[in-house]
Amino acid sequence: MSFIQIKNLVFRYERRRPPVINQFSLQLAKGEIMGMLGKSGSGKSTILRLVAGLDIPEQGEIVINERTIVDAQVCIPPEKREIGMVFQDYALFPHLTVAANITFGLQRWSRAERKKRLKEMLELVQLESFVRRYPHELSGGQQQRVALARALAPQPSLLLMDEPFSNLDTELKGTIRRELRAILRQAKMTCLFVSHDEDDIAAICDDAIRVGTDGEYQQRESS
Ligand SMILES: Nc1ncnc2c1ncn2[C@@H]1O[C@H](COP(=O)(O)OP(=O)(O)OP(=O)(O)O)[C@@H](O)[C@H]1O
Ligand SMILES: [Mg+2]
Repeated sequence: MSFIQIKNLVFRYERRRPPVINQFSLQLAKGEIMGMLGKSGSGKSTILRLVAGLDIPEQGEIVINERTIVDAQVCIPPEKREIGMVFQDYALFPHLTVAANITFGLQRWSRAERKKRLKEMLELVQLESFVRRYPHELSGGQQQRVALARALAPQPSLLLMDEPFSNLDTELKGTIRRELRAILRQAKMTCLFVSHDEDDIAAICDDAIRVGTDGEYQQRESS
């Protein structure tokens, strides 16, 4: 049984329109990094929103580690899904330091646990010396790493990334790609990674699928 099972998702934003997502299915093994390619408007972000619980499918089922997070009967709210998210604009809290951003999702942890986890995350993304800075005092790539650390800190079962590099220049992108792959591997993170850029996918992912413009065509690129 796969670690993540997404089965026959159907979703529409408007009732009278055909579904944006039509019978979308995907399975991921634990620790697998899956790329998702597809034209603009094909439904990639919508699929991530359904997995995250920001939208609810009209049909279909999502199971993570044998726990059903959504189907016809069940709908676990986003904050209880144990899913980390990194989106395009990083969305760091501007008024919080690097440390406070990273530990934001750990409010129910003990002080000692929080401190330990912060240290681990800072080491992982190599930002130990930036812990007291604010987001505007960091470069784009550093902000991106903080966003990643914040998403990974609560130990999610799945990480969703939606065009996380779109604000980075080409040179920085090259470095970040290598870093990201290493970080995800080290954390043994299961990940769904959306990008327009086939080079991103090739550098980071184990495998990839393509979402068709009609939202219903998917195929494995390899394997
Ligand atoms: N809130 C909304 N209300 C109505 N339609 C929407 C809404 N959000 C997205 N759509 C439509 O759903 C379709 C899929 O959008 P989605 O954002 O998932 O595409 P995408 O593959 O992520 O595109 P991009 O690569 O440009 O980010 C598009 O046709 C879009 O116009
Ligand atoms: Mg999108």
